Amino acid sequence: MRELIKKLTEISSPSGNEDDIRNFIKKEIKNHCDSIETDAMGNLIARINGKKNGKTVLFDAHMDEIGVMVNHIDQNGFLRFTAIGGFFPFHALVHRIRFQNGVIGVIGEEKRDSSTKVSPLDKLYIDIGAKSKKEAEKMVGIGDMGTYAAETIVTKDRIIAKSLDDRIGCYIMIKAMKTIKNPKNTVYFVFASQEEVGVRGARPAAYRIDPDCAVALDVTGTGDTPESNKMEVKLDGGAAIKVKDSGMITNRKIRDELVDVAKKHKIKYQFEILEHGTTDAFGIQITAGGIPTGAISIPSRYIHSPSEMVSVSDVEACTDLVVAFANEYDV
Ligand code: CO
Ligand code: ZN
Repeated sequence: MRELIKKLTEISSPSGNEDDIRNFIKKEIKNHCDSIETDAMGNLIARINGKKNGKTVLFDAHMDEIGVMVNHIDQNGFLRFTAIGGFFPFHALVHRIRFQNGVIGVIGEEKRDSSTKVSPLDKLYIDIGAKSKKEAEKMVGIGDMGTYAAETIVTKDRIIAKSLDDRIGCYIMIKAMKTIKNPKNTVYFVFASQEEVGVRGARPAAYRIDPDCAVALDVTGTGDTPESNKMEVKLDGGAAIKVKDSGMITNRKIRDELVDVAKKHKIKYQFEILEHGTTDAFGIQITAGGIPTGAISIPSRYIHSPSEMVSVSDVEACTDLVVAFANEYDV
C-alpha cells in the first residue's frame, strides 16, 4: 500500500498534462485487464470482460490534480501564475511548487494590505531562485505547469499527501483491478483527465462506453475538525456513499444498491451530503441520454492543499465496496 500510494501521489500531473501519471498507471494495471486504451481527451480506459449475460459497470477516478500555470515572468525573474482548478491562496503561501521539468519554486506574496486577510492569487508570485528574467526564462516558460511538491507520509491510520484528490481514487481502482477475477459484469475503469477544470475528461469517456451504471470515486470533505462546517462525514467512518453534492443527486437505485452491497459484506459506510463541490459522477450522470450514476467518496481533510489527509481504513472500505459492487451489480 505505502509504496504505491507514495508513487501515485508524488507524481506531478496537473489537468491537461496527465502523461506522467497515465504512463505510471498504465504499467501498474496492464497485466490486470483485457483491454486498455487512451482516448483523445487523455483518459486511460481499461476493461475487464464479464460473462455473456452480465451488465456493464463503469468506475471512474480522475488522474489530474490542481496546480498553477506560468503566465508572466517579471524583470527580476519572479513568476506570476494562473490557477489550474481550485488552487487556493490560503493554502498556497510559502509552499513549494514543482514544475514538470523538475524546477522547484517557493510561493511568496507582495506586501499585504492587512495582517489578517489572505492575499489573492494575483498578489502571489513564484520564486524559482532566478536572478533575472533571462535566467528565469531558461528554467521555465509561459504556459508551463506546476503542482505542489510534497512528501507523502503513510502512518498506521493516516495518509498525508498532495493530490490524494484523486490519486487515492486511482489507487482504489488499481487495487480493485488486481482483486477482481472473472467478474459477472464487464467492468470499465476510467482514469479520467481534467476533472479539476470542470469534469472535462469523464463525460466523453462515459458517453462512448454508455454503461448500464457508473460509480465515481473521489474525495469529499469532512465535518470532524474543530469548528468545521456541519457535515456528517468523518475520517474512519467508512466509505462515504454520496446522496447529494452541488452537481448531482445520486441515482436512488445505485445509492440503495451500494448500501445493500456494503451491508451484505459488512463494509463500514456513511452517507455523504456535500454542500460545495462535485465529482466526475455529475458529468457521467447527464451524458449519453443519462446514466444511472452513484459515487463512493473517500473522506478527506484539507482538500486541495499540499497536505490532504485520509484514513487507511476508509480507503480499505472503499476498495472492498468497489470490488463487491463490480461483482454483484444487477439491476
Ligand atoms: Co479536487
Ligand atoms: Zn477530485
